[in-house]
Amino acid sequence: MRSSRLIGALALVLSATTGTTLAQPTNEDLGRLEYEGNCASCHGVTGKGDGRMKGFLTKAPSDLTTLSRRYGGAFPNQMVWEVIDGRTEVGPHGSRDMPVWGRVFRAQAMQYPGMATQPEWYVRGRIVALLDYLARLQVK
Ligand code: HEC
Repeated sequence: MRSSRLIGALALVLSATTGTTLAQPTNEDLGRLEYEGNCASCHGVTGKGDGRMKGFLTKAPSDLTTLSRRYGGAFPNQMVWEVIDGRTEVGPHGSRDMPVWGRVFRAQAMQYPGMATQPEWYVRGRIVALLDYLARLQVK
């Protein structure tokens, strides 16, 4: 469901920006759609942690524009990957406010005959698009 909306939104963006030619989406286009569709409600459109869900959560959503600064200067790819995927995270109480996207994306992959045999490719593709987008949001 969400993915077909994503593809629809992508087609709209592309037709609006390219006229009649259907160009390949850039990494940034894909990452932005993923981010705006799945993350902005909590982390905010600009990534500052001020999404509309903020007041309903026990923990404040992190500011995602300062990841590099807070984790030693370089974008912390592996850590961010594991937090987004969430399936290997063991929290102190086994739960967290941040959704477990690895599980969500995998469940979506299983709905498509072409993806269901290799769901992890689909999961990884979506996480890579998000990493690429988040790396671009970093403040200096
Ligand atoms: C329902 C609200 C919610 C949504 C939706 C959400 N997050 Fe989060 N996220 C949080 C909260 C709250 C935290 C703070 C840590 C915790 O919960 O343990 C967090 C933490 C993070 C962190 C760790 C940041 C740090 O400073 O260590 C990253 C990275 C992250 N989120 C990325 C994402 C991405 C990418 C998406 C979309 C695919 C997303 N989040 C969607 C609530 C959310």
